[in-house]
Amino acid sequence: MCGVFGYVTNRDEALGPILVEAAQRLTYRGYDSVGAATFRDGRIDLRKDVGKVDAVAERHGLRDMRGSRGITQLRWATFGAPSQVNAQPHLDSDGTMAGAHNGNVVNNAELRVEFAVEGMTVRSENDGESCVHAVERHLRRGAGPIDAIRLAYRDLEGDYSFVIGRADDDRLYAFKKGSGLVVGIGDGFTCVSSDLPSILPLTRDVIRLNDGEIVTLWADRVEVRSVQDGEVLERPVETVSESMDAARKGGFPHFMAKEIHEQPQVARELLHLLDASADVGPLVERMREARHLYLVGCGTSYHAALLGSVYLAQVAGRVAIPVLAPQFIAQYAPAVGPEDVGLFVSQSGETKDVLNALEAADRRGMVSFGLANVVGSALTRATQRCLPLGCGFEISVPATKTFTNQVLAFLYLAYRLGGRDTGELTGIPELMEQTIAAVDGPIRAIAQDLADRNDLYCLGYGATYPIALEGALKLKEITYAHCEGMLSTEFKHGPLSAVSDGYPIVFVAGPSDTPLIISGINEVKVRGARAITIGQEDARLRANGDDLITIPASDPQVSALLSVIPLQLLSYHMSVLRGFDPDFPRNLSKTLTVD
Ligand code: AGP
Repeated sequence: MCGVFGYVTNRDEALGPILVEAAQRLTYRGYDSVGAATFRDGRIDLRKDVGKVDAVAERHGLRDMRGSRGITQLRWATFGAPSQVNAQPHLDSDGTMAGAHNGNVVNNAELRVEFAVEGMTVRSENDGESCVHAVERHLRRGAGPIDAIRLAYRDLEGDYSFVIGRADDDRLYAFKKGSGLVVGIGDGFTCVSSDLPSILPLTRDVIRLNDGEIVTLWADRVEVRSVQDGEVLERPVETVSESMDAARKGGFPHFMAKEIHEQPQVARELLHLLDASADVGPLVERMREARHLYLVGCGTSYHAALLGSVYLAQVAGRVAIPVLAPQFIAQYAPAVGPEDVGLFVSQSGETKDVLNALEAADRRGMVSFGLANVVGSALTRATQRCLPLGCGFEISVPATKTFTNQVLAFLYLAYRLGGRDTGELTGIPELMEQTIAAVDGPIRAIAQDLADRNDLYCLGYGATYPIALEGALKLKEITYAHCEGMLSTEFKHGPLSAVSDGYPIVFVAGPSDTPLIISGINEVKVRGARAITIGQEDARLRANGDDLITIPASDPQVSALLSVIPLQLLSYHMSVLRGFDPDFPRNLSKTLTVD
């Protein structure tokens, strides 16, 4: 997730502070490099580097930049390592046009070769530069700027948005396809940004662009055109009345709700990231050769590791040992060595329990890899290779989008290890969208029914067992009710005695385990329990349980991933109904940097 911002006025201005402040407001998206370009008297001043906004601004004097138009970009490395040359914005071949993007151009490698063959100067490996050259290509062939963008759109595959400007001009152009882009119209200026909150301190008059729209920004007006036919589109200006806090929540009442709804988009971005990552291949090979393979994490990240171990066995026939980080130290560390591989999983990359385990592994010479969301965190620095989760900031204490991306990353690795085509995974984000749309209504009704219950069980089997544990953790974390996650077949070995009239038990049914789940349902139903099932449409599940929350049809591995969404929503709605703030549950903190 990167961030891009453009600003247009009609006089020579101190643009540096405006660009730096916009970049600071976009930092929540996570980044490793920052850059700015200003357009002044027919020349482009480009300054960029690896590092955080304040450090790069200080090092390169970004606050001193002047001009009548400016672009700033925060990069989160996908195509090309974090480096000064790969930082954005980028110039065209002769330095008379500059642009920057957000998103992923998936045919970047092929395009860079084509551009070089056509005589263009390709300086970096970054796909933002490909956006600039794609426009340059068609300008060179005689197209006007709008047509050049329309033709570039046909060349650039993927989900992205970009902002671009020419030195001898008075405007900027921006284009949206898949990644967010909002236009702001102020007094004597216009601007465009990856998100609304970065615009609101400047103006409340906005146009939220749709995919396939090109906007031209002058200082005093904007014009939106369709990329399909180049026709001007009527796009009324909307005056935003919501508070800054509400805007940061994207119109949702809580960050948790926003982050649940962001899951399809970040999943899409993660698949692009992994396709482009130079680390995946070597990491998979090392996992293949390992004597023992450990997947280490805590809390939600441990549940992802647990599901990862199911995927690696089911898809790739590879045994992996999922383990809670402190237990890794106590149980396995004395026995590991350089032939073993550990994959350490953490949203924050700062969890002390995980870093302690990593240290113990390092002392034994074990090969250690990471899977982390926060760029630049201790885990990303201390492991030999660390794959990104690409979720941007997760603000809500309960992990949601980072869990589904951890799980998706494991599924991707299992596919690679098993020699299966990862292209088969591209439908997952859409299935996630369908799941959210299908389950939110029915889950709200169930949350209403269960709002007063203080004891629940959540049961799964096979790939849905880790999901049951994760659902139970989420329920405990934000509703403060007691909810135990278990393997469904274990229920009869003790907990069954707790069942009485109306006792709520949630079953997470995988499509290949239906008969087993039905046995479990009947076992508790005859003792008076209320059996709520999450699974694919199935007449048997419908007939045997009390409620069936249906998720879209898919294979058992994907189905497990989808089935966490209703549990996230159930926890969220129950928490709100019980009068709690799901984003900041009592006694907990987002990052646990203590033993
Ligand atoms: C998840 O909802 C929790 N907030 C918690 O279990 C969390 O997953 C755990 O503390 C591990 O954090 P990490 O992923 O940042 O290492």
